[in-house]
Amino acid sequence: MTTFWSLYVTVLTLGTIFALTWLLLATRKGQRSEQTDEKVGHAYDGIEEYDNPMPKWWFMLFVGTIVFALGYLVLYPGLGNWKGLLPGYQHLDTKEQTPFANGQTGWTGVHEWEKEMAKSDAKFGPIFAKFAAMPIEEVAKDPQALKMGGRLFASNCSVCHGSDAKGAYGFPNLTDADWRWGGTPADIKTSIMAGRHAVMPGWAQVIGEQGVSDVAAYVLTNLDGRKLPESAKADPLKGQEIYATNCAMCHGPEGKGNPLMGAPNLTHPGAFIYGSSFAQLQQTIRYGRQGQMPAQADLQGNDKVHLLAAYVYSLSHGDEANAEE
Ligand code: HEC
Ligand code: HEC
Repeated sequence: MTTFWSLYVTVLTLGTIFALTWLLLATRKGQRSEQTDEKVGHAYDGIEEYDNPMPKWWFMLFVGTIVFALGYLVLYPGLGNWKGLLPGYQHLDTKEQTPFANGQTGWTGVHEWEKEMAKSDAKFGPIFAKFAAMPIEEVAKDPQALKMGGRLFASNCSVCHGSDAKGAYGFPNLTDADWRWGGTPADIKTSIMAGRHAVMPGWAQVIGEQGVSDVAAYVLTNLDGRKLPESAKADPLKGQEIYATNCAMCHGPEGKGNPLMGAPNLTHPGAFIYGSSFAQLQQTIRYGRQGQMPAQADLQGNDKVHLLAAYVYSLSHGDEANAEE
C-alpha cells in the first residue's frame, strides 16, 4: 500500500472510532442520571417512551466495543501499513516470505486457505496424477474417479450447466449426444481446458428483417416437421436460399453443424440452447450469439480437468447413460 492510501485508511478508521466515541459521550451528557416517570412526548399507536437514561450495562457495552477495536488495531494489522505488535504478520507483503515459509504463524484467511489447499493437494495430488496418466475413456469407468469428478463438477460447473449437467437457457446440456465442439474425449477436454468462444454473427444488416424471418422459418420447418405459426409472414423457400448462401458454410449444407467453430446442429430441437420457437430463432439470427465457456487450465490445472473431462464423458457414455437409452 502506498503511504497515501495507508494514511487514508488509518485516518478514516481512527476518525470513525473517535467520532462514534464522541457521539456516545455527547448523547449521554444531555441525559438525566436517575429514573423518572416523565415521557419523551411522542406516541405511536398508543405506545409512549419514558425519558430515562440508557442503562449503565448497555453504555458499558459500547465502551467495551471501542476499547476492543482499539486494542485489536494495535495488535493486528488493520491500520494501513501498520503490521501490528503480534509476531507473525511482519512479512504479509512479501510473497517469498509469507509466515509459512519462515515458520511464523500469524493468522489470516489467506494463509488458512493456502494451508487447506496444500493439505488437500498432498492428499489428493497423487490420486489426481494417477488418473491423469490414464486414458479418459478408462477414467470414465472408475467409480472413485467419477465421484471426485462429480464433486469438482458440482463446485465449478453446475452454476452454469446445472447440477444434473443438463444445461439451461444459454448453457449446453452435457449429457446428450449433441456436441457443439465435438464429443470425443479429446474434444471435451479441450473445451474445458482452453474454454470456447462461439461467434454467431448477427444477420439483420445483411439479409434484412424479412430475410431473418424467412430463414428462421426455414430452420423451424426443418425441425421434426414443426409448423410455422399462422401469423408468421415468412417464406421458408426463400429462407432456404438465404441459408445456402449465408449459413451453410458454418452450419453445414444440411444444417448438421460444424464442431470446428462450435456451430451447432440446427436439425435437432434438443441441440438449441437459445430456444427453437419462431420468435427465439428470429432473435438469434437477427442479433447473433456469443456463447463463452471459461477456460479452466489456470483454475483447475491439467489433472483436475482430466477428471472433469472423464466425468462429463461418462454422462453420455457411462452405464447409466446406456441404461437410459
Ligand atoms: C461464422 C459462422 C456462422 C454463420 C455464417 C452462421 N452461424 Fe449460426 N451459429 C454459429 C455459431 C458458432 C453458433 C453458436 C453460438 C453460441 O453458442 O453462442 C451459432 C448459433 C446459431 C443458432 C442458435 C442455436 C442454439 O443453440 O440455440 C441459430 C438458430 C443459428 N446459428 C442460425 C444461423 C442462421 C440461420 C445462419 C444464416 C443466416 C447462421 N446461423 C449463420 C456460427 C455461424
Ligand atoms: C460461466 C458459465 C460456465 C461455467 C462455469 C462452465 N461452463 Fe462449460 N460452457 C459454458 C457455455 C456458455 C458453453 C457453450 C459455449 C458455446 O456457446 O459454444 C459451454 C460449453 C461447454 C462444453 C462444450 C459443450 C459442447 O456441446 O461441445 C463443455 C464440455 C463444458 N462446457 C464443460 C464444462 C465444465 C466441465 C465446467 C466446469 C469446470 C464448465 N463447463 C463450466 C458456460 C460455462
